[in-house]
Amino acid sequence: MSDKNTFLLDGVAIAFNAGDTVMDAALRAGAYIPHLCHNPEFTPHGSCRVCIVDVNGRRRSACTQPAATGLNVDNSSDDIVAERRSLLQMLFVEGNHVCPGCEKSGACQLQAVAYHAGMLSPRFTHFFPQRAVDASHPDTAIDFNRCILCELCVRASNEIDNKQVFTISGRGIGSHLVINSPSGKLGDSNFAATDKAAHVCPVGAILPKHRGYDQPIGERLYDKQPVSIVGDVAAHENDAQGDDHDR
Ligand code: SF4
Ligand code: FES
Repeated sequence: MSDKNTFLLDGVAIAFNAGDTVMDAALRAGAYIPHLCHNPEFTPHGSCRVCIVDVNGRRRSACTQPAATGLNVDNSSDDIVAERRSLLQMLFVEGNHVCPGCEKSGACQLQAVAYHAGMLSPRFTHFFPQRAVDASHPDTAIDFNRCILCELCVRASNEIDNKQVFTISGRGIGSHLVINSPSGKLGDSNFAATDKAAHVCPVGAILPKHRGYDQPIGERLYDKQPVSIVGDVAAHENDAQGDDHDR
């Protein structure tokens, strides 16, 4: 392969198209770079930092780093994996992620990426934030305890649904997801279970009602194959959405 329009990812030449990010080109080539806030259907956001890579000696987010000839990208050295694991450990202690009791366990991208990064413990002290559950909508519940502020629902609602149901308020550790409705409750918004925003959450924060635990633990998306093979949970949520419509 000519080195024109290629960069190196862990020593392997990856072809890219004009306008690609490192993430775009890598995923198209079948090379997995762990990510949570990235979804190729939406504008890159660069907030979770889980896609951290080393690009020619500097730390970058692969989902926002433009692909370019001459880049030498390290996605899997011990240092990069350790930094990624630390970022994941922070995400776990910032919220209340009680995996054994979560409907999304086994099909949660945060859990799957943490396994991929070799995370075995939370490592940091839990914040145990006080967060609510909003079950006011007839078809969808939101458990804010599990929100990782990836803004995928925000972007889906803005860019696809044209509704702007979700937004992020506050700064730093005070950042939190809010619902744009008179009461602040989802049931008081124009959100619908058929919205794109209902099917993009990588964790168990936005959950459909009426079908809890319909897929047994042990038979879920990441129970059988790792996230590096299966890919994003949102793509499979879309498949499930299609199945629902077929029913
Ligand atoms: Fe991301 Fe889900 Fe939180 Fe929305 S509710 S910001 S999709 S984690
Ligand atoms: Fe790149 Fe979140 S996936 S910063």
